[in-house]
Amino acid sequence: MDKLDIKLWSLAAKGQIVPDRSLLKTPAQIEAIKKSAALNTAVLDHVAAHIREGMSTAKIDRLVYDYTTEHGGIPAPLHYQGFPKSVCTSVNDVVCHGIPDENEILKNGDIINVDVSTILNGYYSDASRMFSIGSISERATKILSVTEECVELGLKEAKPWGHLGDIAFAINSHARDNGYSVVEDIGGHGIGLEFHEDPYVSYVTPKGSEMVLVPGMMFTIEPMINEGSPDFHVDEANGWTVYTIDGGLSAQIEYMVLITERGAEVLTR
Ligand code: MF3
Ligand code: CO
Repeated sequence: MDKLDIKLWSLAAKGQIVPDRSLLKTPAQIEAIKKSAALNTAVLDHVAAHIREGMSTAKIDRLVYDYTTEHGGIPAPLHYQGFPKSVCTSVNDVVCHGIPDENEILKNGDIINVDVSTILNGYYSDASRMFSIGSISERATKILSVTEECVELGLKEAKPWGHLGDIAFAINSHARDNGYSVVEDIGGHGIGLEFHEDPYVSYVTPKGSEMVLVPGMMFTIEPMINEGSPDFHVDEANGWTVYTIDGGLSAQIEYMVLITERGAEVLTR
């Protein structure tokens, strides 16, 4: 047992949820995952440079596939549990997991989440951004800015020996203060060696609850913020697309973070 084992063991003895050592990335793994994350950010920048009114979400899929593969990567969503495309594109009342479609054309006033995940040399990265198409309503502008604030406030709580619940509490409080709700039952995840690793990351849990944050942990901060009810339904025909139950707008921003000795480092956003 080394010092860290003893610290983790004593926290566990006090009833804390602690990560398994396998969830703490080694320096070599961190270096490799950072390369994947850098490509993931470049893919998102490429989308940002091209996305516009009149474009189909299928075109975004092609931008992601082409750029990723031209740079030696593989889009992680492609064929993941049967997902048919290379990226998730979630427009307006779509909460997440929207499937790019030739017939879905971006129009003035739309808000869209583009969720990009990349495999490079076997290492995984994941981040998403919101984009506004043309001029958007005041309603849409507000949910985008509050969602960004939520993720930034959550990020501030990402530090060693804190808890995942501290991040969730900061996010959920700010969303609720602004009249929004946070989606329950769909959360973030550990990442790096696999697309989805432990821990599951909820954004509705209390401060001080859930897993202790330990240097070397990597996970996503990716709350889904709804205008109205937090409830959702899944498209029965494709089994993927998640819609708000009430047709209200939903927004999401995803950062992938590494817990360090001093705080947290955003690897891709
Ligand atoms: N990027 C999404 C996530 O955060 C990926 C969902 S799985 C997919 O987990 F197959 F839809 F891509
Ligand atoms: Co994710």
